[in-house]
Amino acid sequence: MAVTDAPEPVVQDDPAESAIAPVPGRWAKRLPKDEYVFLWLAIGATVVMTAFTVGWIFVSDHNVPTRTKATTPKEFGEQVAAFMAANDAQDGVVEVPPGEDAYMMAERYRFYPQLVLERGETYTIWVSARDVLHGFSIIGDGRHLNFTVAPGHAYGLRFTPDKAGDYTIVCNEYCGRAHHAMTGRITVKE
Ligand code: CUA
Repeated sequence: MAVTDAPEPVVQDDPAESAIAPVPGRWAKRLPKDEYVFLWLAIGATVVMTAFTVGWIFVSDHNVPTRTKATTPKEFGEQVAAFMAANDAQDGVVEVPPGEDAYMMAERYRFYPQLVLERGETYTIWVSARDVLHGFSIIGDGRHLNFTVAPGHAYGLRFTPDKAGDYTIVCNEYCGRAHHAMTGRITVKE
């Protein structure tokens, strides 16, 4: 016995009868005028941003630590101590003779010693970390010196302060509970 009560499939032959109106031919091949405006804005923005990114490399004053050397926390700690002793550090403040290399240790949660530099002189400041990864950022000299300090590596940063005043060094690498309070100081005198 054949099953006869299955519904007849509905076949819609005439598009005019369809609930969904057909779209005109070639609709996907042309953009409305407005879309071209956005297209060119997007292309223009891409060109401008790319030019800015590439151009910035040539026009800005990049100051990254170009000298690095392997060390140990113990060895670097001894260099810092010798540097402080040789320059007669008072209360953790060292007046660095022009042209002489300075040594600064980053440890939870301070940078020491504090340095006193002379305006217009060029120094190399060696920085390393005693315990964990820290950041080193000089705030206020307009050049946004900024790098990461890892134990076992000493970074030689060439620095020519052109403005007298106090510069704060902040740690910008999370290093523990008092990370936010970890600062150091460089004073530049005339
Ligand atoms: Cu040191 Cu954060």
